[in-house]
Amino acid sequence: MIIKVSKIFMLSTLILILIITITETSASVFNNATCTNNKTFTQNSTFHSNLKTLLSSLSSNVTNDLRFFNTTSGKGLDKVYGLYMCRGDVPFALCRECIGFATLTIPKYCPSSKEAVIWYNECLLRYSYRFIFSKMETLPRYKIEIPLGDPVLLQSKGFYAALGSVLNVLPNEAAVSIGSFNKYAVKQENASVSVTLYGLAQCTPDLSAGDCRRCIEDAAAEFPKACCGGSIGETILFPSCFVRYETYPFYQHSGTSASIATSNKGGRNISTHLIAIIVVLVVILVAIFCIGGYFLWIKAKKRRKASHKENLGLEFSNSESLEFDFATIEIATNNFSDDSKIGKGGYGQVYKGTLPNGQEIAVKRLSKTSGQGAEEFKNEVMLIAKLQHRNLVRLIGFCLEDQEKILIYEYVPNKSLDHFLFDSRKQKQLTWPERYNIIKGIARGILYLHEDSRLKIIHRDIKPSNVLLDNNMIPKISDFGMARMVDIEQIQGHTNRVVGTYGYMSPEYAMHGQFSVKSDVFSFGVMVLEIISGKKNSCSFESCRVDDLLSYAWNQWKGESPFEMLDPVMQESYAPNEVEKCVQIGLLCVQENPDERPTMGTVVSYLTNVSADMPFPMEPAFFMHGRTRRHSGYSAERESYSDFTLKKYWKEMIGWRQSV
Ligand SMILES: *[C@@H]1O[C@H](CO)[C@@H](O)[C@H](O)[C@H]1NC(C)=O
Ligand SMILES: *[C@@H]1O[C@H](CO)[C@@H](O)[C@H](O)[C@H]1NC(C)=O
Ligand SMILES: *[C@@H]1O[C@H](CO)[C@@H](O)[C@H](O)[C@H]1NC(C)=O
Ligand SMILES: *[C@@H]1O[C@H](CO)[C@@H](O)[C@H](O)[C@H]1NC(C)=O
Ligand SMILES: *[C@@H]1O[C@H](CO)[C@@H](O)[C@H](O)[C@H]1NC(C)=O
Ligand SMILES: *[C@@H]1O[C@H](CO)[C@@H](O)[C@H](O)[C@H]1NC(C)=O
Repeated sequence: MIIKVSKIFMLSTLILILIITITETSASVFNNATCTNNKTFTQNSTFHSNLKTLLSSLSSNVTNDLRFFNTTSGKGLDKVYGLYMCRGDVPFALCRECIGFATLTIPKYCPSSKEAVIWYNECLLRYSYRFIFSKMETLPRYKIEIPLGDPVLLQSKGFYAALGSVLNVLPNEAAVSIGSFNKYAVKQENASVSVTLYGLAQCTPDLSAGDCRRCIEDAAAEFPKACCGGSIGETILFPSCFVRYETYPFYQHSGTSASIATSNKGGRNISTHLIAIIVVLVVILVAIFCIGGYFLWIKAKKRRKASHKENLGLEFSNSESLEFDFATIEIATNNFSDDSKIGKGGYGQVYKGTLPNGQEIAVKRLSKTSGQGAEEFKNEVMLIAKLQHRNLVRLIGFCLEDQEKILIYEYVPNKSLDHFLFDSRKQKQLTWPERYNIIKGIARGILYLHEDSRLKIIHRDIKPSNVLLDNNMIPKISDFGMARMVDIEQIQGHTNRVVGTYGYMSPEYAMHGQFSVKSDVFSFGVMVLEIISGKKNSCSFESCRVDDLLSYAWNQWKGESPFEMLDPVMQESYAPNEVEKCVQIGLLCVQENPDERPTMGTVVSYLTNVSADMPFPMEPAFFMHGRTRRHSGYSAERESYSDFTLKKYWKEMIGWRQSV
């Protein structure tokens, strides 16, 4: 009897945990942080301590379940004004989480700025040295465009008509809405038979109705008005309001704004309404809890050794929207025809496809050897799909059938960075400002993987061929989270991917399989030097003979002629201070000792901060003078890190490459 009771208890706890994870459906998605750099404060000043107090009082007041809150801290010249707002449909738990992230993150991006704003998908937070309440402000602004899109849809009248009618309604509805959806409105409209357009607008509720309307109209003016040149999803972020449209229901409220507005008319009604909804939800949850517990108990009784995986089946309902039919993918890629093949990665072939609704996709068909179970695969895919950043390729879905495991990504039109960088004709297309932006974008993408997303992902395979470029030459990192989604050990035996990316691997990873965020930093450093020089690192020890890229970079740096290493195609048009900074960052990232490499957060701050104080790099020590030697028992090698010299590592590498 006692055993049975404890079993029930364990199962119930498991279900409870599952329910909690299911309820917590999305992570905060960072968009941008902007500082007004011309006014700064000094560390440890009164202003600084007021700011700290302000941020902590903003984040602690979210526990009062307020979606908007404004407060001040300090007196006189050192007074700080601050406010936050969460999107109207965001549950309080998520709102709290988002503001928590925002208060922690904003000092990282704006360490000494007297005024700043940070935008997430779910919330915004601002502070300033001046009075900012009840004032409509439309600067600074940040715009996000979803680059992919069905060209037929984007040229159809229906799309712009639907967008027009959504944007017509939103300013007024948001301006007049009150109650718990204060200054918030959503609206949906059919754009074609199969596509629906969803729009959302919100102002900070301290604005007057007139200001709110003007703010949203001002933002909406940035959207495409008539045919072509639009994109299937855009967001405009202002300090005082934001507007967004997409072709999928990105907000959580299912009703139209009209129904919200009517239900808001009586303040009391909404709260009784809400209470009723909460009570019903709780009852449903308890019922699920009991029924699920009962069934699982029966099951467990039947099969004592049943694995935990079955319990995870409860999560499936969540993954449905991401799951694609194999038949759909077959049609989209023309039966995986050779014509639609666009590349081969370490994990399998990549195809270009078009979905029935016209959306272009990249389809990655994983090698069939991967050993991970279906449930684990689904769970990991769902976690990875939540990662969204403008510098990451978006994972749209997956397909799982018999032996097939397929990942579906947004299609990024231009090719990968290596196609531009190492092609003598295309090299010319990459000007210095573009290269600099690419470096910054990649750094931000990796930073998001390392720190700003909840998953803390180490990429492990950062290299130019894993950086795709969109039409605006914005870099997008691909293949992240692969190790989580696919059992990496199984794959390595069958492909050459370890060899192919050897030039980017940090010594401790290559030698001892130790990886950390600092191994990604190393790979990033190699890539930065490649972007500057247009030279491929691996070329340097095979055909280029004289010096490898890293020692070449070091010698130029040491000889105070960092510009020598610039790709000759852009000798004219570069900003010397930016080039110098990038060479220095590259060298800092490829330091032998992982502790001496900066974190990606530090790298981003070096890149964004004009007067960043950077340490002086030491010799990366990658000199190749020795003769090649045959590889002897690479994996059996068990030296401690401090014992081995990097020269040896480099030689090993050459030996190994030749023996493969
Ligand atoms: C925010 O956007 C501005 C303008 O596009 C850009 O200069 C800045 O670097 C961005 N900041 C972050 C942290 O992404
Ligand atoms: C600071 O910058 C803002 C906008 O970027 C500008 O309006 C303001 O005049 C500047 N102030 C000073 C003192 O330069
Ligand atoms: C600020 O204060 C902290 C701790 O009190 C101290 O570690 C730091 O060195 C100070 N910074 C400056 C610039 O005075
Ligand atoms: C909320 O903000 C007020 C100032 O407006 C502050 O005094 C208080 O400590 C904050 N925290 C909580 C939990 O109320
Ligand atoms: C919040 O802003 C309003 C103006 O919109 C102002 O009257 C009020 O004093 C502010 N609250 C705090 C705590 O400063
Ligand atoms: C949009 O399309 C759906 C299904 O195609 C239909 O039920 C609905 O009435 C349409 N809505 C409008 C506003 O036309």
